[in-house]
Amino acid sequence: MNISRGFLVTGSLYLLVGIGFGMHMGASGDHSMAPVHAHINLLGFTLMTVFGLAYRLIPALTDGWMGKAHFWLHQIGALALLVGLALLISGRVAEASIGPVLMVSEILVALGALIWAANVWTKTA
Ligand code: HEM
Ligand code: HEM
Repeated sequence: MNISRGFLVTGSLYLLVGIGFGMHMGASGDHSMAPVHAHINLLGFTLMTVFGLAYRLIPALTDGWMGKAHFWLHQIGALALLVGLALLISGRVAEASIGPVLMVSEILVALGALIWAANVWTKTA
């Protein structure tokens, strides 16, 4: 599995979805989804593109289990967080039912970030 390509390709898809949300907000004048739009673009596109470039620039980061663990924790956590937040803010689900999903997904993203930090600490000179 190519971690760099995985992050870059999924990041580019998040950018398209994020721009779609932005254009819809601009056209409709309803900005209630701004936090979802912001995090699709930042947690999705920006962060994943930075990760994708870093794994390409520093191939040692892909050695061992940490890169793969980081990739999957970030992918699953970000997707669950963004879909959950969109459902919550659009009023499709109640906070009581989606709250635990958001909490778990935040923890997955944070755990991925912790592994990323440890990987960077140990593999970069
Ligand atoms: C064609 C592309 C885009 C359009 C039409 C668009 C449109 C918008 C709109 C209408 C808002 C709500 C503003 C408000 O209510 O104050 C917004 C907020 C935001 N956008 Fe975009 N956006 C686009 C691309 C991006 C990109 C590429 C990023 C980041 C990489 C981004 C980051 C943000 C952030 C962080 C906010 C939240 C700002 C805040 O709440 O203070 N946007 N955008
Ligand atoms: C698990 C990860 C994250 C969680 C749980 C999270 C949570 C939040 C929350 C609760 C807010 C306040 C939203 C509001 O008041 O409407 C916020 C705002 C914001 N976050 Fe995050 N965030 C995360 C990751 C990130 C990352 C990685 C970035 C940037 C690369 C980022 C950039 C921002 C910005 C620019 C705002 C202000 C824009 C706005 O109010 O919509 N966040 N975040």
